[in-house]
Amino acid sequence: MSATVITVTSGKGGVGKTTTTAAFGAALALEGHRVCVVDFDMGLRNLDLVMGVEKRVVYDFLHVAHGTANLSQALVRDKRVPNLFLLATSQTADKEELTHEAIDHVMNLLRGEFDYILCDSPAGIEHGAMMALHHADHAIVVCNPEMTSVRDADRIMGYIAARSRRAQAGLSPVREHLVVTRYSEERVRKGEMLSLETIQDILVMPLLAVVPESDSVLRSSNAGRPASLDGKTDAGRAYRAAARSFLAETRHGIAQSYRAPQMAGAGFLSALTETAQRGLLRRLFRHA
Ligand SMILES: Nc1ncnc2c1ncn2[C@@H]1O[C@H](COP(=O)(O)OP(=O)(O)OP(=O)(O)O)[C@@H](O)[C@H]1O
Ligand SMILES: [Mg+2]
Repeated sequence: MSATVITVTSGKGGVGKTTTTAAFGAALALEGHRVCVVDFDMGLRNLDLVMGVEKRVVYDFLHVAHGTANLSQALVRDKRVPNLFLLATSQTADKEELTHEAIDHVMNLLRGEFDYILCDSPAGIEHGAMMALHHADHAIVVCNPEMTSVRDADRIMGYIAARSRRAQAGLSPVREHLVVTRYSEERVRKGEMLSLETIQDILVMPLLAVVPESDSVLRSSNAGRPASLDGKTDAGRAYRAAARSFLAETRHGIAQSYRAPQMAGAGFLSALTETAQRGLLRRLFRHA
């Protein structure tokens, strides 16, 4: 087995990376794949909370890296989806302990055990975020429909291209996928949020999912339940559809070819007026 590594990244913080890692990872597992979600957000560990397994974490990434625990001791298996696992990050250790060699060692072990490894990246472009990007075969770039988020997502794309193991080894580039979260068609109509079209004009990469702003996400998160386990909610459906699109697209090797995702009852391509869009674009790139 040699896993495909998918890093969930954003640039800007608080946009929905951890939510997406848990939900997309669980959705891939529901499709029958063996999946491990890995928390790279050292010190701020919260993927275990969103997955609802925090009480069962005994060992973490650094224990495996240092050989004080083996991988099977550190992996926490989900009780609802048995082919879904979590490798937690350390809450206390010095971030610099997470060296390239330590990460290579753990990632090699994981690659041998899983079909998909989902890496939840910390915000920003610091050490942990670069480490999470380094191993990526695919990058899911998460952004909200607002200017700062889109601009930071645009910046992170440059890092993905330059810093990845794939780039350094001369392999085909990391495949990028856009996930827009917290989208509200009503707020787009009022001009309070960027439209999907505007976002896609700026961030030129295939759109994997549009996840609506939804109270169900907060409820899932508080209950320690990845949003995709609830297939009846709009957000849950969006993440499940995203996993199926991803699998179909990567299975057939069709590059850059996602169709616009379906969002129940929404003509979400409706947008700001042309003038409003141009104004936003100017403001967006004025300081870039
Ligand atoms: N589709 C959504 N609808 C409503 N709330 C959402 C949605 N997606 C995420 N959230 C909420 O946004 C907040 C931030 O989400 P999350 O922790 O996943 O972001 P993050 O990018 O991982 O943050 P950080 O950069 O701090 O790691 C959480 O309270 C989460 O419940
Ligand atoms: Mg997070």
